[in-house]
Amino acid sequence: MLIHHTIAETRAALANAGRIVLVPTMGNLHDGHIALVRQARKHGDCVVASIFVNRLQFRPGEDFEKYPRTLEADCERLRTAGVNHLFAPDENELYPVPQRYVIEPPPEHANILEGEFRPGHFRGVATVVMKLFSVVQPQAALFGKKDYQQFMVLSDMVREFGVPIEVIPGETIRADDGLALSSRNGYLSEQERAEAPNLFRVLSNVVDAVRKGNKDYYALEQGAVSELQARGWTPDYVALRKKVDLQLPSAHDSGLVVLAAARLGSTRLIDNLEV
Ligand code: PAJ
Repeated sequence: MLIHHTIAETRAALANAGRIVLVPTMGNLHDGHIALVRQARKHGDCVVASIFVNRLQFRPGEDFEKYPRTLEADCERLRTAGVNHLFAPDENELYPVPQRYVIEPPPEHANILEGEFRPGHFRGVATVVMKLFSVVQPQAALFGKKDYQQFMVLSDMVREFGVPIEVIPGETIRADDGLALSSRNGYLSEQERAEAPNLFRVLSNVVDAVRKGNKDYYALEQGAVSELQARGWTPDYVALRKKVDLQLPSAHDSGLVVLAAARLGSTRLIDNLEV
């Protein structure tokens, strides 16, 4: 695996690489990231991973500073998983001057759910991903469904701009107890880690109820919120939405997903399940 820290090096190294598949990450890699890498190998000749903790997608007061940076261990994992090139720029390389040109996702996508609680988050995500696309110029890119709204925003962006990149989803990888793998799980205390799988369990119960024909979505959402609160969580939202655009479903809509974000202590976890 070749490691590049500059845009120039990356471009030169990828000049004749064949079909390039990109897996963008912020590092502190776990089996969810590695599953994307393994999937990527099936979609092209050359797998490029990127590691960059993107300040633009964090709000003041969020965990940008304390976000775990574990480059050496990450390189080892990527090498073992068969990544050909790693692009790991520092902030001065990717943002040598303040990034004034940005991608502004439409409010109906960017201001709901995660966007309501993290204003500007998807502007930061879309902007850095567009920049990574322009550096690496892949033919395909993989994003996990763990970040369901992120996947929707990015695949929409690519479609609307006519970017010639195939956007491929990866399934959510979970621990044996159901907890979706996340770099932020590392913030949990032992006690919180034991409680954390209940987010998945609560969402699974909502999915079961909808599958059995319960169409009182509001009551299901509120029931899930109350259960999490009773267990000591602070939920931001539990929401049943249409998969295609994450808008509110009506009773005859099928193709739903339930999404949630909730804080356990000071750690904010997100998860979702397709119905
Ligand atoms: P990060 O949180 O590091 O995630 C990188 C990729 O891994 C994303 O596509 C994410 O959806 C996927 N992923 C995370 N946890 C997963 C899991 N348990 N199962 C499957 N896939 C999982 O998402 C970002 O970084 C950033 O926003 C980024 C797209 C890199 C832009 O900065």
